Amino acid sequence: MGGRGDSGCMKPNSGCMKPNIAVFCSGNGSNFEALVKNNRKGKFPGSIELMVTDNADAFAVLRAQRLQIPVLFVDPKRYVSKEDYEKVLVRELRRFSIDLILLAGFMRILSPYFVKKFRNRILNIHPSLLPAFKGAHAIKDAFEYGVKVTGVTVHFVDEGVDSGPIILQGSVSVENNDTLSTLEAKIHKLEHRIYSQAVNIVLTKKWKISRRRFVLLS
Ligand code: GAR
Repeated sequence: MGGRGDSGCMKPNSGCMKPNIAVFCSGNGSNFEALVKNNRKGKFPGSIELMVTDNADAFAVLRAQRLQIPVLFVDPKRYVSKEDYEKVLVRELRRFSIDLILLAGFMRILSPYFVKKFRNRILNIHPSLLPAFKGAHAIKDAFEYGVKVTGVTVHFVDEGVDSGPIILQGSVSVENNDTLSTLEAKIHKLEHRIYSQAVNIVLTKKWKISRRRFVLLS
């Protein structure tokens, strides 16, 4: 597969520099808000057209209302199987002509069915230097392990958990006087910058994925 994704508005050399983007959130939504603000400042092309959530009470919903981004809440509890739930997501994403999906604290594992529908068009941000500290409590796990360096990873989503090709990573050092909350603050500050940088690279550079490596071609 070659640069700028593999379908719709992200086809290589399609000339479309205005992909429609959806951000998926389950909770606080600080990365979602940073992405919207950075997008509006022109830090990456395209436009964030939709915030998708599996949690009607997520603070991200309030952020979306303040930022005037439409919210799509699909309640997974209403569906017997994950695939039934994801079929509704796929239908709605098509309705909004979404080209690129950004997971930002979306605490639900997407099935191979969904990943296949958006192959190499789903990005995730994870608060550790993958493959270290996968899972839902990465900052705490790294802090308790006693690492001296940790960080943030932006990667494509594949059929595994926190396992797709890495687009960009950034590191932070853990100092002796850091607490879990000061480390969380450092990580979030880095996340709010690096996610937009990664989206910009994916949307504006030519790249390929070769033996699970994300390789820039120019
Ligand atoms: C972020 O730190 C993100 O990296 C993490 O959830 C947080 C969401 O914060 N994601 C994961 O741990 C995924 N495994 P936010 O809702 O304020 O953006």
